[in-house]
Amino acid sequence: MNAQQSPLLWWQKDIIYQVYPRSFQDSNADGIGDLEGIRRRVGYLRSLGINAIWLSPIYASPMADFGYDISDYTGIHPLFGNMNDFDRLIAEVHDAGMKLILDLVPNHTSDQHPWFIESRSSRDNPKRNWYLWYDARPDGSVPNNWLSAFGGSAWEWDETTQQYYYHAFLKEQPDLNWRNPEVQEAMLNVMRFWLDRGVDGFRVDVMWHMIKDQQLRDNPVNPGYLPHMPTCDQVLPVYSTDQPEVHELVQKMRQLLDTYHERMMIGEIYLPINKLVMYYGAGNNGAHLPFNFMLLSLPWDARQIAASIDEYEGALPARAWPNWVLGNHDQPRVTSRVGLQQARVAAMMLLTLRGTPTIYYGDEIGMRDVPIPFEEVQDPQGLNMPDKNLSRDPARTPMQWDNSVNAGFTTARPWLRLAADYSRINVQRQEQDPYSMLHLYKRLIKLRQQSPALYGGNYIPVHADTQALAYIRKAEDAPSFMIILNLSHRPCYFKAWQQPCKGRIILATSPELEGTQVADAVNLAGDEGIIIELEP
Ligand code: NOJ
Repeated sequence: MNAQQSPLLWWQKDIIYQVYPRSFQDSNADGIGDLEGIRRRVGYLRSLGINAIWLSPIYASPMADFGYDISDYTGIHPLFGNMNDFDRLIAEVHDAGMKLILDLVPNHTSDQHPWFIESRSSRDNPKRNWYLWYDARPDGSVPNNWLSAFGGSAWEWDETTQQYYYHAFLKEQPDLNWRNPEVQEAMLNVMRFWLDRGVDGFRVDVMWHMIKDQQLRDNPVNPGYLPHMPTCDQVLPVYSTDQPEVHELVQKMRQLLDTYHERMMIGEIYLPINKLVMYYGAGNNGAHLPFNFMLLSLPWDARQIAASIDEYEGALPARAWPNWVLGNHDQPRVTSRVGLQQARVAAMMLLTLRGTPTIYYGDEIGMRDVPIPFEEVQDPQGLNMPDKNLSRDPARTPMQWDNSVNAGFTTARPWLRLAADYSRINVQRQEQDPYSMLHLYKRLIKLRQQSPALYGGNYIPVHADTQALAYIRKAEDAPSFMIILNLSHRPCYFKAWQQPCKGRIILATSPELEGTQVADAVNLAGDEGIIIELEP
C-alpha cells in the first residue's frame, strides 16, 4: 500500500493508450487504419495528455487473427505501411515527449511463418523442435484433452509428417516450443531488433501461455462450466498454462530489457490475483506491469470492487507497481458494460487509483460496442462459436473522429462498420462540449499528471457500501485527495466516519459541483463521482 521512495520511472507515472491500428486512422483510402494515420493523430494523443502509446500488432501477417498471427516479426504489414513509416512515427512520438510500446507475440507464430513452414516440412528438419509436435495416441486420437481458445481441440493433425501440433488459438497459430533454447534466442533477437530501433517497451501477448506441461497431462474437467461460456472453458487449463517454468522465461526477457535504458514489459495475463502477482518475478525480475484485468470482469458493485482493490494492493510484492485497465480489443467496451453514465465514474476510478492506467482507444469519447450483422463478422472467435456471441468486432470498430463520411476514419469502405451514431459521438463534437466524456478524460488526465498523490501517492481505503466507494490518495508534501464514487444510479449520502473529509471538490463528473466546500458529509446524485482536495 505504500508508495515507493525512489523516483518514479516513466511507466509508473505515465498513462498508456492502446491503439488498435486497423481502426485508428486510414491514410491511404483502403478502409484500414495504418501507421501514417496514427502519425497524423499524434497531435490528438498529445492533446489528450496521455504519454505512452501501445500499438496492437503491425507486423507481416496473414491476418487470420488480425495480426496476432505473425509471419515476420521484424517486418511491417504493407496494410500498415513500411519501415520508413514506422521510423517516422516513432520519431514523432518521441519528439512529442511520448513513448511507444509494441505488441510482442512470443507464444505462437503464423502457420505461414518460415519457421513453421520448415518445421512442418519433415520430422528431421532442424526447426522441427521449434514447435510442439506429438504422436497420436494408439487409437489415432489427439495427444490430450487440451482445447483451443477459439473452439475445438488444440491439436491439428499434419498429414505429411503424421503428427499433431499444438495451437492454443487458431490452427493457423501454432505454439512455439519455448523449452527449446533456439526459440528463446530467436525471440530475444526480435526484442533486440525493436529495442535497437528505439521502442520503449512491449506488451507481451498471452504471457501465461508460453510454456506447457512437459508430460502433457490432461486438463481437469471444469465443474463450473455453463453453456454460454467459450468451449475451451469445459476444462481448467492447469497443465496448458501458467506453468512454473514460465517465470524463468519472463526473467530472461526482463534481463534483456534491463540491458537497455528504462525499457519496460507489460504482460497480458488473465489469472486470479494471487497467481497474477507472481509475474512481477521474485525480487522484481519479471514483468514491470502484469496487466490487472479485474475491472473488466468484476460486477459493478462498490463493495466487491473495494474488496478486490484491497486484495490486489495486499498481494503486490514489495516494490511491485500496480496498474489498471477498463478495456481492450478483446473485451466488450466499458460503456457497453456499465452504461454511459457509469463509464464516467469508471474513468474517474481508472485515473485516480494507484498504478499505471491503460486507456483503450475510443473509450475517452464513450464509444460503445457496435452491433455487427452476422454476415459482416470478421473475428475468428465470433465465427467459430456463432451461438455464443463472442465476437470481438463490436469493440474494434473505427475511431469516431468527426461527423464527416465514415467519421473521418477513411474515405473508402471501412473494414468494419462504424457506430450508427458517430455524427453525435465523435472527437470533434466532444472537443466543443465542456460536459463531454472527452473533456472529463482530459481533465482527469491533467489532474492526475500534476498531482503527486494521484500518480505516486498511497492508496487508503475509506468506505464501501451498496452504492458508494471512497478512498484517499495521499503523498508527502503535496495535496491529498478523497475520491467518492457513486456506483449506483440512485442518490447516496456519504459521511466519512473514520477519516476527516474537509476540503473542496476540484473535479466532478458533474462540473457544477466543482468548487463546493465539503465538511464531513456529501450528498451525491446517481452516477456521480467527485474528487475532493483535502485540507492539509
Ligand atoms: C491475445 C490477444 O489480445 C488476442 O487478440 C489474440 O486473439 C490472442 N492473444 C491470440 O494471439
